[in-house]
Amino acid sequence: MAIERTLSIIKPDATEGSHIGDILGMVEKAGLKIIAMKMMHLSQAQAEAFYAVHAERPFFGELTEFMRRSPVVVSVLEGENAVATYREVMGATNPANADEGTIRKAFAKDVGENSVHGSDSQENAAIEIAFFFPASQLP
Ligand code: CMP
Repeated sequence: MAIERTLSIIKPDATEGSHIGDILGMVEKAGLKIIAMKMMHLSQAQAEAFYAVHAERPFFGELTEFMRRSPVVVSVLEGENAVATYREVMGATNPANADEGTIRKAFAKDVGENSVHGSDSQENAAIEIAFFFPASQLP
């Protein structure tokens, strides 16, 4: 199995709900190492740039407004098959479809306020990690 890296964002609904520690605990219990992390308040430009792939979607305005509502916790996770492993830990995008034991089942409200983001491929993980972390801040 391959050692990969993926990007995680703990979103405003989860930081507002004081779920940071519980979510990071679930990440570590799944065998993923947190190798870089920062808490930050996204600017409008950062929120729009990070989600640029969704710019034409009807929910884009709602999404970027939500992502700026409160601070987020951005981290780089490393481990075996990290992209797929973290997506399993997160659960389905819509918490109504998320399995028991996943982050979104435990904490997410709906498809918009879904507590966490995780990269969907190794290619996007590399792009998303570079968006938040210069190489000099990574091991
Ligand atoms: P995320 O994994 O961060 O990637 C894109 C985000 O868009 C997704 O999680 C949701 O938070 C959001 N999103 C997806 N579909 C909808 C929707 N129908 N309405 C509002 N937000 C959505």
